[in-house]
Amino acid sequence: MKLADNKATLSFSNGSPSVELPVYQGNVGPDVVDIRKLYAQTGMFTYDPGFLSTAACQSAITYIDGDKGELLYRGYPIEQLATQCDYLDTCHLLLYGNLPNAEAKAKFTKTVTYHTMVNEQMQFFLRGFRRDAHPMAIMTGLVGAMSAFYHDSTDINNPEHREISAIRLIAKMPTLVAMAYKYSAGQPYVYPRNDLSYAGNFLHMMFATPCEEYKVNPVIERALDRIFILHADHEQNASTSTVRLCGSSGTNPFAAIAAGVACLWGPAHGGANEACLTMLEDIQRMGGISKVGEFMNQVKDKSSNVKLMGFGHRVYKNYDPRAKLMQETCKEVLTALGLENDPLFKLAMSLEKIALEDDYFVQRKLYPNVDFYSGIVQRAIGIPVSLFTAIFALARTVGWIAQLNEMIGDPEYKIGRPRQLFTGSVKRDVPPVGAR
Ligand code: SDX
Repeated sequence: MKLADNKATLSFSNGSPSVELPVYQGNVGPDVVDIRKLYAQTGMFTYDPGFLSTAACQSAITYIDGDKGELLYRGYPIEQLATQCDYLDTCHLLLYGNLPNAEAKAKFTKTVTYHTMVNEQMQFFLRGFRRDAHPMAIMTGLVGAMSAFYHDSTDINNPEHREISAIRLIAKMPTLVAMAYKYSAGQPYVYPRNDLSYAGNFLHMMFATPCEEYKVNPVIERALDRIFILHADHEQNASTSTVRLCGSSGTNPFAAIAAGVACLWGPAHGGANEACLTMLEDIQRMGGISKVGEFMNQVKDKSSNVKLMGFGHRVYKNYDPRAKLMQETCKEVLTALGLENDPLFKLAMSLEKIALEDDYFVQRKLYPNVDFYSGIVQRAIGIPVSLFTAIFALARTVGWIAQLNEMIGDPEYKIGRPRQLFTGSVKRDVPPVGAR
């Protein structure tokens, strides 16, 4: 970042001395007012619950222009990455800052491929869960448990440990998600195969059985790979900020990523894809498109607490570019599977059309986000609704790791320790129990 020729002056109406604060510029996007010395100089904190106006770090990984609906991974537009690259290209880009040439790609692919198996002991963790446990409960446990197996890569301050744990996490997440699915389905686990692509291997581990050969459908393989690309990283969202804050204590990478998995689970965040599909199925059950108007009235009635899941975003105040690509992927997969008349897809399209013409949504700049169509395409592939967020976590793991490693490599980073505005009881004495 570079010092701007602009400065911020903070003055107080009570006559307290004003304070001059430096302003820094990035390469694109809003400048920042550096308030690091504010408390020392004024004895005051800033107040920004939800961090709507706060830059928690400097980063060179992902840039979002919410007004334009633009998303860049290391400067490359998501539309180009999603159509011209694959997920492992994207992983290499996010981790190392550049797209791999053919030789680097082959090396990276081989490295990831040869780390896809998990320690055989890990399967016994699953036996401790009920068969109907939510896959995100299982994933939170399994990812954290990885730190119990890979003691040779838990020192986050050791660059070699960071490198090998990044590869292990990227390589093993598909295996663990597929194991969580097989456990809930009561089917035997399927080992990874080194002759399959990253997405093809996941499909094989998910849907193959010992009873017959499973052929990976190339259209679905490509669609899933694109879904992984679209979910790979997204600036300082809630789960990424969780990983950074968790990692700032120096804890091991597996524990920090497990914290990200736990945060992503929430319906306001990664859990929205599951909530969105459930919402569409509920409307379908109530009567489908004929009931959309009634549902939208509920959404606009604040007292109902009903939200149009898959709509709205903290940063995008325009169409989420990932939603557009996801809608295209939806059409490709549904057509390939002969499901072009899928009622839920038609319902989603009509919901989107109505919302984009409705003042309530237009005024609040609410557009479809990445979660609006992702559930429909995953359901068409045969992925159970409860597994959607686990697949989001699988894809986002590379972003979490890239952001965590960037923080650890930043000489300015310290353990994160926000302050507060205290509104509780001031000091008082404990009354005897008879006087309480
Ligand atoms: C992800 O941050 C990221 O980058 C996240 C993510 C990533 O890749 O990491 O993009 C992934 O989490 C996408 C978002 C998935 N969540 C959902 O689809 C859940 C539904 N969306 C809402 O919960 C909401 O839009 C949020 C949480 C996504 C954003 O909330 P904000 O920015 O805090 O916005 P807000 O709640 O202040 O909303 C502004 C207004 C409010 O109305 P008013 O008080 O101004 O009258 O819009 C309303 C909200 O009530 N609103 C909605 C709505 N989203 C916002 N009303 C109905 N339906 C919605 N979906």
